[in-house]
Order: sequence, then C-alpha cells, then structure tokens
Amino acid sequence: MTQRKILVTAALPYANGHIHLGHLVEYLQTDIWVRFQKLRGNQCLYMCADDTHGTAIMIRARQEGRSEEELIADMQQAHIRDFSAFGIEFDNYGSTNSEENRKLCHAFWKEIREAGLVKEKDVEQLFDPEAGTFLADRFVRGTCPKCKTEDQPGDNCSSCGHHYSPIELIDPVSTLSGTTPEVRSHAHLFIELEKLHTFLDEWVENSNSLQPEVVNYLKGHFLHEPLRDWDISRPGPYFGFEIPDSEDNYWYVWFDAPIGYMASTLQWCKNHGEEFDNWWKNPETEIHHFIGKDITYFHTLFWPGMLKTAGFNLPTKVRIHGFLTVGGEKMSKSKGTFVMASTYAKHLNPSYLRYYYASKLGSKLDDIDLNLDEFVTKVNSDLVGKVVNLASRTTRFVQNKNLADVYPDDGGLFANAAAAGDKITEFYENCEYNAAMREIMALADAANKFVEDHKPWELRKDETRQDELKDICTISLNLFRQIVIYLAPVLPRLAQQTGELLNDKIGPGDWEKTQEPLVGTPVSPFTHMLKRLEDKQVKAMIEESKEDQAADAAIASSDTSNQWNDSAEPLEKEPLTEELCTYDDFVKVDMRVARVVEANHVEDADRLLQLTLSLGGSETRNVFAGIKSVYNPEDLVGRLVVCCANLAPRKMRFGVSEGMVLASGPGGKEIFLLNPDDGAKPGMRVH
Ligand code: 2FM
Ligand code: ZN
Repeated sequence: MTQRKILVTAALPYANGHIHLGHLVEYLQTDIWVRFQKLRGNQCLYMCADDTHGTAIMIRARQEGRSEEELIADMQQAHIRDFSAFGIEFDNYGSTNSEENRKLCHAFWKEIREAGLVKEKDVEQLFDPEAGTFLADRFVRGTCPKCKTEDQPGDNCSSCGHHYSPIELIDPVSTLSGTTPEVRSHAHLFIELEKLHTFLDEWVENSNSLQPEVVNYLKGHFLHEPLRDWDISRPGPYFGFEIPDSEDNYWYVWFDAPIGYMASTLQWCKNHGEEFDNWWKNPETEIHHFIGKDITYFHTLFWPGMLKTAGFNLPTKVRIHGFLTVGGEKMSKSKGTFVMASTYAKHLNPSYLRYYYASKLGSKLDDIDLNLDEFVTKVNSDLVGKVVNLASRTTRFVQNKNLADVYPDDGGLFANAAAAGDKITEFYENCEYNAAMREIMALADAANKFVEDHKPWELRKDETRQDELKDICTISLNLFRQIVIYLAPVLPRLAQQTGELLNDKIGPGDWEKTQEPLVGTPVSPFTHMLKRLEDKQVKAMIEESKEDQAADAAIASSDTSNQWNDSAEPLEKEPLTEELCTYDDFVKVDMRVARVVEANHVEDADRLLQLTLSLGGSETRNVFAGIKSVYNPEDLVGRLVVCCANLAPRKMRFGVSEGMVLASGPGGKEIFLLNPDDGAKPGMRVH
C-alpha cells in the first residue's frame, strides 16, 4: 500500500468564545478521520489554529479592559485544554495572529493584486460614534425594512428571511453602545470573484471535491449568475493585519482566516524541518477541509479562488457537516442543553461523546441530534455491554498468563471480522462513521454470542478443561482486540488500554493488526476501561449548564450598555438635523449654568413663565420660557438650569427676553428642563 500524504484541517474556532458540544461535532469528526488515516499508515497532519481577528474580539477585549493579544492568548490555552480533554490531537495548533500568517497574507495579496483582481469602491457602513467603530452586521439590530418586524439582526430578518444591508434597517441601534449609528462612507477593497467564474464553474462541477448536494447548492445559489465582488477590507480601528498598500485598511477576518490553515502548517514545517511547498504546492499532497455548512461559501468559492490565484494546491475535498441539535431542538442555554466542553468533561467521560457522535455522523449535511436518553442507552449497551464486556468477562481467567500459542478454531469469526476491514475502511474514508459503527457492533454481537455459547465461567470450574478455557479466552480477547482496533480512531483511549492489557501497542500503521490474531503474549490484569453511564451524571451536567447560563445572564445584566432598549420614537418625530454644525458654529453659542432666582406667572400668557436667571455675581438675564404647562414658579426658584447667555435679545409682547433656558421634549406635558449635576456653579460654561 503506498503511503498517502494528507493534510487535514478543521475550521478555526473564533477566539472570542469557548468550545461547546456543537463545535465538538466537527473537531471530533475530523480527529476520527485523521486518526483513521494514521492508523492506516498514511502520513497525515491535522492542522488548526485560533481565528483571532475581527471586530468581535476587539470589542470583547475592550469590554474586558485588556489587549486583544492577552485575550487571544488566554482563549488559545482554554481551547487547547478543551480539545485535549476530548482526545482531539492536532499536529499543530496555531493562531491567525502569527507572523507566519502575516507573511502568507502578504504573499497571497501580491499574487491577487498582480492578477488584477482587486478594485476599490466606496462603501456606506454604519458607524457607532460612541464606540468609535464601524459596525459589523452582528452589532446592529433594527426593524426589518421589508416586513417591519422590530429588533432584527443586521443581515437578515428572522421573521420573513429577507436579506439586507444593515444600512437598510429602520431605526438601527448599535448593540455596542445602544446608540443610533451613523451611515459613513469609506473606501473598501474588493476581490472581483467574477473574473474566476469560469475556473470555479469547472472546479465545482468536475473536481469531485464536493458532496453532490453542495455542488447543486453552489450552482443554484451563486454560480448561475455573475459572482459578486468580495469586500475584503475593513477600515480601522480593526484588530487584524493592515493591508500593506492601503493605509488604515485591514484585511477582513475571512481573508486571513483560511490562510491560517497554511500558517499553522508553516509552523509545523519549521518545527519538523520540512518543506512547506511539499505540503501546499505538491500535487501528491491531498488537502481535506472539514467545515460546517454555514461556512460553505467561503471554503468552496473564495478559498479555491484565492488558492488558484496564488498558485497553491486546491482542496482535494471540502467535507461539510450539519449542525448539532439536542433533543431535536437548537441548543438552548435556558434548558441547559448549551453545554460547554469543559462542563461536559467535568461530569462525563469524553469517550462516550466520541462514540455517540461517530454513531450518528454520516457523509451528508444533515444535522445530527444528541438525544440524551439514546446517548445513555447507546453508551451502555454498545460500549459497555458489547465491547468492554468481551474483555471484562474473559480477562480474569487468563490474566497473568499467556494467550494460546496457536490461534484456535473459532468457526471463522476472526476471519470474517478481518474480511469486514475493507468495508469499514471505506466507511471511515467516506465519513460514514455511522455505518462503520453499525458494522463494528455487528461484529461485537457475534463475538458476544461466542462467549455466551462457550461459557468460560463454567469451564473455569472444571480442572480438566483448562486448555479449552484458555482457547476460548484467546478467541474472545482477539475478537475484542480486533474490534478495538477498528474503533481506535473513535476510542483512542480504549485502544491504548487494550494495548496495555494484551502487551501489544495499538498505534499508527496498526490497522493491519486486525488481519492477524495475537498469540502467545502475556495478559495483564484487567483494569476498568469504561464505566456504565448513569442518568444522574447527565442530569448533573445539564443542571450545571443551566447554572452557567444563569451566571452569564447575571453578568450580562450588570453590563448596562444595552439594557435600556430606548424607543426610536423621539427621533422619528423629530429627525436629526442634516446640516452639520462646525466647531466654530458650536462655540458661538455661549451656554452657561444659571440659577433661577425669581419666577413669575405672566399675565395673559398661557404658556410662559418669566424667570430671572443669575449667572453669578451681579450678572443676570431676564428670560421668558414656555414651560408653564409643567412647572410651578415657586418650584423653580433656587434650582440650577442651563441657559444660552448670548442669544440676541428678543422683544416680546410682555418684555425683552435676554436668553433661553435649555429644555427637552415635544411640549405640552412633556417638557424637561436640563439639570446640571451637583457642584456646578452659576456662570460655568457648558461645553
Ligand atoms: O465560522 C467560524 O467559526 C470561523 N472562525 C471559521 C474559520 S475557518 C477558516 F477559514 F479559517
Ligand atoms: Zn422581515
């Protein structure tokens, strides 16, 4: 068998959140595939990294009062810890915020520029003046421009499904500050993907890199019409790499993220003295990307387009999976089904989840459901009841002894299971793990029947049948080992324990060991391999997840940035003035803190009160204010207000008004005088 050279990636997790059971579908699916390839004796690398750039990370770092670098360093450690608890073994785990990635981004950019694919266009985007940043779609909410449902996200409506640009939203609100964002224009750089249309048509149709439903989706949704230009720059402030030839513009996170696959490989190559081009420019190397269906577009259009332009290997396969549901529903924080990887690992053995996911995963894009009752049943009946049981029921009769020197006649069981190896190989290779698990469990059923039929526990009592006992145990332990090797990509820990039990390691390249029985080797004493899973353990995990959610909610409610949910009505009634006021205009208006020293009704005036305002010392103003509908003169005397002190005097029917007190509200019963905070003194300027 010739050794294949395979490079595998799983999507780079964002550095702004922890790993949960939904993420694990992909990292486990990929880990199983990589372990399978290694077990088959292929050279296979599993590359991953944290996806660190973008507005979300920048905002989170700001909220936590620390640098982005600190935040991403902590998160990377947490991710690595969670992955390793689940036996997910990367050959390299990098970061998109690395020098390797920066260097590769520059190299890609040069090629893309030289290929004439970049053009510049002005883009109108929402800008949050309070947060001082342009707003990515997910930081804006507002009313759907089509069906008018309120409080919708920045990109598409959850009620009618309409896709829009955030600037089309009615009454947009920044989720960062709760303020109304402004529309601002800025030059953005675009990649003209349409220029790669012919190549992409051909690649999608003929490369055999995509699942059939993905080919249809791409043809029906994108390739049937001109491809839109792809906006790959973002104006500062933005946490990312600055574009070398475009000042204050940064590469959009989705430009540098997939390049992170290569940057991680470059790190690995440096650490192992290997040639980078041997992996990314060698036509003999296979590249397999595992991703979720939500990021299909990036990996099947942009990414092959970029790779093609920059002269790198194209993906051999993009393997796309569905999402995780729990109990048939979206994971829910309040129901405790939004389970973090670390919470799971506190309560349950990660091998259970590895097996359960494997038993559910196929090669299609269907969602997979974690049904907690089924989870408990499957783990107990398959792993504990069928697999481990084979070893636990027979080891004690041969422990500290040797297996038989010659493999006894087992009626064809071992040979039959060895012959199933090709089928199981194909299932793993094609990501049909569910079919592989069914096949392997059928072998376990046959092996258990053999043990039941031969009852080693009875043979044991008969001194004259000890050779027979040894044969039966040799057979059942061999069938057990064969099954464990088939399961090794899914259950590496069990494979390791089995290697120790039978004093013959199961590691890379050992798939072939399923074809040959083990004889004559010593058997170690049995140690527990996988315990039965109790319902109460699952319940405890769910309860703790509910508590995690309650704690999150408490933290969120102490963050007052967006708790007010202010209505857009005042602005609707009185839209903002479009004409800009320069600073010079602004300082012309001399606003001062003033004290009301006298307040009187004005004869024959329905709305007016006469106020005498002191600006401190002997400076006063006589002002007629239209606030009678709300304020009694006697309540006003003594309080501080803000007044415009240099308003040109106006002659009124009742006298001359020498200024104006500042108040807000539409009028009638809604008039609100501005109130300087304690400590302000009459005469102080208001800036
Ligand atoms: O969707 C996500 O979680 C992204 N962080 C995946 C990036 S995959 C790759 F392109 F880097
Ligand atoms: Zn709508």
